[in-house]
Amino acid sequence: MSAQNQAGALQAMMNWIDDRFPLTKMWKEHLAEYYAPKNFNVWYYFGSLAILVLVLQLGTGIWLAMFYKPDAQEAFASVEYIMREVPLGWLIRYMHSTGASLFFIVIYLHMFRALLYGSYKGKRELLWLFGIVIYLALMAEAFFGYLLPWGQMSYWGAQVITSLFGAIPFGIGDTLQLVIRGDFVVSDATLNRFYSLHIVGVPLVLLGLVGAHILALHEVGSNNPDGIEIKQNKNAQGIPVDGIPFHPYYTVKDIMGAAAFLFIFALIVFYMPQVGGLFLEHDNFVPANVLKTPEHIKPVWYFTPYYAILRAIPHKLTGVIVFAWSVMILAFLPWIDTHPVKSIRYRSVLYKALVMTFALTFVVLGWLGMSPAEPELSELGLRLGELYFAFFFMLWVYSKDRSGSFYIGAFVFVFITLGFIDAIRYDESKGMLMLVSAVLPAIYFVYFLLAPVVSSLNQDRPVPERVTS
Ligand code: HEM
Repeated sequence: MSAQNQAGALQAMMNWIDDRFPLTKMWKEHLAEYYAPKNFNVWYYFGSLAILVLVLQLGTGIWLAMFYKPDAQEAFASVEYIMREVPLGWLIRYMHSTGASLFFIVIYLHMFRALLYGSYKGKRELLWLFGIVIYLALMAEAFFGYLLPWGQMSYWGAQVITSLFGAIPFGIGDTLQLVIRGDFVVSDATLNRFYSLHIVGVPLVLLGLVGAHILALHEVGSNNPDGIEIKQNKNAQGIPVDGIPFHPYYTVKDIMGAAAFLFIFALIVFYMPQVGGLFLEHDNFVPANVLKTPEHIKPVWYFTPYYAILRAIPHKLTGVIVFAWSVMILAFLPWIDTHPVKSIRYRSVLYKALVMTFALTFVVLGWLGMSPAEPELSELGLRLGELYFAFFFMLWVYSKDRSGSFYIGAFVFVFITLGFIDAIRYDESKGMLMLVSAVLPAIYFVYFLLAPVVSSLNQDRPVPERVTS
């Protein structure tokens, strides 16, 4: 067949499909004629990378499921069988375990980008909420998957986390705990339901949510590092003057990002798949033993910032409520931070310092959650937990131009609130520790609430009309 005839046959086939399914229409709407801002930077790699990791996890997961046995008597041995006997089983397993951690790294960077550029603003609330539900589903997916190797940490981690539900009063918690476990303790029944949710239930939900997430994004249009809506400047054809077609420009850029990512991924998989016990914990190479609790029970690193907050609060129910809120509060970001300037580029020095302090707080909390529960570290965890929530309060405070008396009022309010919390949890044996650690919130609030009163550090910069580069 000549080249001309081939092209004609291809066109005829496309016409046949387009009459029955909107393939060309979708291609144009979401790729070839989706105009994305021309100034995307490295932070914009992580959305497409998240799709890549999702596909990798699904692919390797399906492969693992062919050999894995969801049975408390056989699960651990079946993973060892995959590692030693199945051809390339070790590779598939390490790709899946490394993929889990890299998924969270990618997602945390993706979310942080949204924070930097205010990407939850300007009709992007639903896009953000879909993102949050994805994040919750991802946490559930990782939690369910972690039980499957049936190692010591799998077993005891699941035991601790499922027991948290027991703190809910009026018998609700006990019932919930029983339903989740399918037994009075974590057992074979738990393994079976976690397996079913891990390989079918949650992945289906995730796929649906990612579709909704991208549809919501394409309905509103992408934000960018300047936080300037490109749709406000259109040419005579109705095309944003600062936009470029997603395909081929960003598909090529994203392939570059994917190549760099896969290089790092391969380095980890081939040279250090356990990452010193961070990606695959040492205790999980020991089969689950219901009679022997490991010395330090801790979740995998991506949960540890929240775990540090949970552990720092001695009262179980309060701990569980604060723990749940530390995640749920993220959903409210679009309504907490309503400042009209989106990008951090044009926000004040104090705002920049606030966001950086938050990132640092989150990382240190993550480290604390992995460390043994010494009293000093727990106290630090509690103070950093206070700073974690303080960030959202400060975002709200900075979301409008406030008067000097407002800042002073806010300072007094915080002083009384934190003083009240300290009075409730006062423990004579820890009096000195509490006093010393109070320096942390004291410096934080003096800087962020009183500096705007006496300086111009909270002055935002003018936002340009068009994106800058
Ligand atoms: C499986 C997980 C996820 C996938 C596959 C995914 C995918 C994507 C893709 C492809 C984009 C467009 C490209 C980009 O802006 O980087 C995007 C944008 C966005 N995502 Fe996600 N995402 C996921 C999770 C999340 C989560 C957990 C959040 C936040 C809670 C989130 C919030 C956003 C926001 C706000 C945007 C718009 C960014 C902008 O226009 O500046 N995403 N996502």
